[in-house]
Amino acid sequence: MQDQTQLDGITRADIFGRVRLGYVVVESRRLDHWKRFAVDGLGLQLDGTAPSGIAAFRMDAHQRRLVVLEGPAEDVVALGWQLDDLETLSEVRTRLAARGVELVDCGPEAARIRGVERCWRCTGPKRLELELYTTPVPGSGEPCMASSGFVTGAAGMGHVAISSREPESMLEFWQATFDARVSDRIEDRLDGIPFDFTFLRLNERHHSVAIAATRGLSIDPIRTRIHHLNLQAATLDDVTAAYVRCRKLGFRLANAIGQHPNDRELSFYVESPSGFEVELGWNPIVVRDEPAWQVAAYRGISLWGHQPLNLGAGTRIRRAARGLASLARPEYTPFGRTPR
Ligand SMILES: [Fe+2]
Repeated sequence: MQDQTQLDGITRADIFGRVRLGYVVVESRRLDHWKRFAVDGLGLQLDGTAPSGIAAFRMDAHQRRLVVLEGPAEDVVALGWQLDDLETLSEVRTRLAARGVELVDCGPEAARIRGVERCWRCTGPKRLELELYTTPVPGSGEPCMASSGFVTGAAGMGHVAISSREPESMLEFWQATFDARVSDRIEDRLDGIPFDFTFLRLNERHHSVAIAATRGLSIDPIRTRIHHLNLQAATLDDVTAAYVRCRKLGFRLANAIGQHPNDRELSFYVESPSGFEVELGWNPIVVRDEPAWQVAAYRGISLWGHQPLNLGAGTRIRRAARGLASLARPEYTPFGRTPR
């Protein structure tokens, strides 16, 4: 690692570009729904080698990218981050240890289930397990999917958007751990509530993590740890075909096709069997010229489209109730709370 960065007067390795979203682990009691959703809806491949009680899915050369474990959470329980090498892992371990967070070996069974050779974990923001690995297990042969393919590689498998009552602490976590850079910010009113969105990139993908926070009274109206997982389809036809399939199969669409003003990705949102949403998109901006990138601020989360399709009275009431209930629940922050 040759790049260096200055933090608090200390020179350290810069690991920007050496980290990418590698896999996502979900816990659900609805494995059959997940198989139908991921394979017949989104167009992924079911990995038939997974043991019973586990539904695992392939979307590229890796054996597994999405793993659904049998369990009650109906939520994402872990995010797997692929690091370039053991040197990068050692750097992350040192940084976490300096903040009192210890990485532990996940063990061979967990690694096998995730389709990686070895992995290490700690508890991340919102008690979402942060898992790190360097070497994925390759899938056998070419993937066989309804989709023509997904864009992964150096940019990783996509991005996650996380609602937070502690956005400053969460921002600090991703910056201090992975050298995340702010790509841009968006403000908007959703359902009458003002929100600020901060988009963080870890590599050439415009954002690997987005943080959503209410302005003023800090509430979290989302039940699941993430609001959505984004996957990037190879072609526009893949997006429209998946949209039609998801509709025909009866999965609840959350937002119709539209485009965001910052990454310019064309996408739609569909509710997964565990309640969080999956955004399937095409052709987001790739940040290839880092020195030329300018941090911008936008008003309005979408340039056009993304019409909400699931905001009935029931959903609004449930979200309002969850938002109010969240006031009584402190949000877990691994490095402690950053004062506002
Ligand atoms: Fe997104």
